[in-house]
Amino acid sequence: MSAKEHLVIFDTTLRDGEQSPGATMNKTEKLRIAKILEKLRVDVIEAGFAIASQGDFEAVKLIAETIKDSTVCSLARVIDKDIDRAAEAIRPAQRGRIHTFIATSPIHMQHKLQMTPDEVVEQAVRAIKRARNHVDDVEFSCEDAGRSELDFLCRIIEAAIHAGATTINIPDTVGYAIPEQFGETVGQIIQRVPNADKAIFSVHCHNDLGLAVANSLAAVGQGARQVECTINGLGERAGNASLEELVMAVRTRQDLFHVETRIDTRHIVPASRLVSTITGFPVQPNKAIVGANAFAHESGIHQDGVIKHRETYEIMRAEDVGWHTNSLVLGKHSGRNAFRSRLQELGIQFETETELNAAFTRFKALADLKHEIFDEDLQAIATDTKRKDADARFSLVCMRVCSETGVVPVAELTLMVDGKERTAEAEGSGPVDATFRAIESLTDSGCTLQLYSVNNITGGTDSQGEVTVRLERGGRIVNGLGADTDIVIASAKAYVQALNLITSEGSKQHPQAADV
Ligand code: KIV
Ligand code: ZN
Repeated sequence: MSAKEHLVIFDTTLRDGEQSPGATMNKTEKLRIAKILEKLRVDVIEAGFAIASQGDFEAVKLIAETIKDSTVCSLARVIDKDIDRAAEAIRPAQRGRIHTFIATSPIHMQHKLQMTPDEVVEQAVRAIKRARNHVDDVEFSCEDAGRSELDFLCRIIEAAIHAGATTINIPDTVGYAIPEQFGETVGQIIQRVPNADKAIFSVHCHNDLGLAVANSLAAVGQGARQVECTINGLGERAGNASLEELVMAVRTRQDLFHVETRIDTRHIVPASRLVSTITGFPVQPNKAIVGANAFAHESGIHQDGVIKHRETYEIMRAEDVGWHTNSLVLGKHSGRNAFRSRLQELGIQFETETELNAAFTRFKALADLKHEIFDEDLQAIATDTKRKDADARFSLVCMRVCSETGVVPVAELTLMVDGKERTAEAEGSGPVDATFRAIESLTDSGCTLQLYSVNNITGGTDSQGEVTVRLERGGRIVNGLGADTDIVIASAKAYVQALNLITSEGSKQHPQAADV
């Protein structure tokens, strides 16, 4: 049998993933995710869109300075200033890539870009040449390739490779493709483009019809050797192809795929949890590979089979993807050094000693309440501490909630608002509703609550509840997170954090909405 070819895993959790409404991450959060992606042995990390904002630029640069084992990539439109900014951000990387793109479908060229096909080819070629003056590794994407004409795709791809693109990406931007048809398109392009052997072909599939992974795999079957994906399938609208599903499909069905990845699958579940904690996007229990039920056998028949012979119902081993690595790490008597070194092992670093002290105080308080502290608890403490901003407008001072059968719930709550303590009381349909009403009576934010969700971080009723609150105001969406063993307090923390984010964050350019 011939040797397997390498399938490049290009992770875009930090760029396309971050385009999910409310999934905005700050630079330390992005760095934490980049570190776990490096542990996973992802080949390429798309760290952001450097021109979008100063924050994005700094995050890409910080990741480029830190990550050694993965290529670090920045997105750029086919515009000079985008290419130059991307190049500047990835300059410190051991291996850096510029990923430039322009739309190629008739509908995008006519209505969004208002450019002729000739102009699109010309812009793409100029941008690729400019990018190649900065780096050897340049990726070119035909945005909305899924709805582009095959002849035009072949024409622009040939020109792109000729101009120096080393990877050609064929995105199904709007999630319109169907596996057989998409695979066929990719196969046709590879056959028809005369210089196709000089580039790696890649796909980037969105999940609007729930087919992102299937489409990507169909393309791999026809010669694609890079797949773009995200942890937990995070991404614009219905998301992107999920990394864990792609990697495990290729690994589990080695009889069908002539490719292999270099992913260390044991870090899949920890990576999924970290992304979920940081973004506040919970993982549905029945999600393949990383959902809580993915390896749980409920029915008697299945349990019996699994006990007699595991492979009767299990096609993968839970431990191979990082389940059951949930070790008891620290407890009430653990000291500062043990705390610090476990954080280091988890890749968590605090920028200042004050931050570390605050996290340690939280850890001690939590250990008093729940005795056993797991890695997930530490991740939640880190996220909470790092998101606390000394300049934040609002902070929770204290609260008291009354919840009793037959009595309307009441919350009394004190917030620090712009440096002044203010207290309010409100009734609600339940304790959380009363709490949010009390906060609103003090802040009058004008925000709309779009999502409220509670997750337990570890098992058991003594677990910390992790709450996500998504607020919208004037088209801007943010996710606030809060963790506490008391879920009403966690809810208040999450609401307050969302308010701080919505009042502080500057606006950021969206790569695909902007004009060229
Ligand atoms: O979906 C898409 O087309 C993209 C491109 C920028 C690659 O995200
Ligand atoms: Zn995309």
